Amino acid sequence: MKNILVTGGAGYIGSHVIVRLHEEGYNPIILDDFSNSEKSVLNGLHKITGKNFKLYEGDILNRSLFDQIFNENRIDGVIHFAAKKAVGESVEKPLLYYKNNVSGLVSLLEAMVEHQVPNLVFSSSCTVYGQPDTLPVTEESPTKPANSPYGNTKQIGEEIIRDVVDAKVGLKSIALRYFNPIGAHPSSEIGELPLGVPSNLVPFITQTAAGQRDSLTVFGSNYDTPDGTCIRDYIHVMDLADAHVQSLKHLDSIEDLSHYDFVNIGTGIGSTVLEVIESFEKSSGESLNYSLGPRRPGDVEEIYAQVDKSIILLEWKTKHSLDDALRDSWNWQKKLSGI
Ligand code: NAD
Ligand code: WQD
Repeated sequence: MKNILVTGGAGYIGSHVIVRLHEEGYNPIILDDFSNSEKSVLNGLHKITGKNFKLYEGDILNRSLFDQIFNENRIDGVIHFAAKKAVGESVEKPLLYYKNNVSGLVSLLEAMVEHQVPNLVFSSSCTVYGQPDTLPVTEESPTKPANSPYGNTKQIGEEIIRDVVDAKVGLKSIALRYFNPIGAHPSSEIGELPLGVPSNLVPFITQTAAGQRDSLTVFGSNYDTPDGTCIRDYIHVMDLADAHVQSLKHLDSIEDLSHYDFVNIGTGIGSTVLEVIESFEKSSGESLNYSLGPRRPGDVEEIYAQVDKSIILLEWKTKHSLDDALRDSWNWQKKLSGI
């Protein structure tokens, strides 16, 4: 059984990937400092899988912890989720983001090279494209100057990995440029646990419907889109999880020990904010209290993925609809809120 180290494995995306790795016959090992997750996720994972996965509680900045993990386990690959991800916070505290997301990645890469761990899947983001010139956005589209330190850490992260791979040190890697992950495991045992007031659309919608927030503000209604609201590519977290399993299989199949690639991970379908609200109301049966408000600074107008590369390279495409994802987000919220 292949051991896969999952940094940030207790987080939103990481926890869903742990489930899929287990189901696909891998042995996931979690490294997390619980700075943005709760131990309760381990109970959720146990309820779904019946397993207690090996856990290292600690910081990716702690280089000797990686040495310990790689000495104690024969690790076949790493999926690197651990990072800070709040765009607004990154503007206020850029050094925190460069330290955690960039220095943390360097710490991991040093250890992987030293211990000859060959395969790395990196969590990147569609934020590297900014507002693309043509849609759907392909992997050939140029990256744009990042509009936040967070976005810059993803661009820099991709470049660092590419340089390390190019140095032919025995590392193969793929960077997955996620579009907008939403949804939860269909069991409602794990899901997203935003700390404080959510800045992302779907947790804000579900918390509003659950009565935790008074009303949702739609940020901008005069964009050049069919209904005036921004367009994004919302992907079910279970589909996203599958993409990681496929990425590991892909890396394993490649003999070239200096292989680097990057791929869009989205549905290929753009949805407006009002379409997301409509889909939520349909799949939940709830009516949402919302109003149209001013634009949010820094938002891109429209972005959705060209998905051909993921289909060809990873033999992967999404299976879930927007309605499925919002139904699962709502069921998870109801469980959290005791509804
Ligand atoms: P998350 O915050 O839920 O999960 C990240 C996990 O990493 C958390 O459990 C946190 O405790 C842990 N962590 C953070 N810093 C750490 C450190 N220094 N040492 C050890 N553990 C640490 O976030 P997520 O939504 O699951 O995102 C996972 C990855 O995907 C991140 O790299 C994020 O930037 C990227 N990403 C997320 C989105 C999104 O919208 N959720 C979109 C694109 C890319
Ligand atoms: C989606 C749409 C908002 C909240 C962010 C990061 C990006 C990536 C994914 C990590 C936008 C609108 C939102 C609200 C609203 N993360 N909205 N009212 O901005 O696409 O991307 O998460 O890599 O880097 O920037 O996602 O969920 O914040 O917003 O109208 O209360 O919903 O304006 O059009 P976004 P989001």
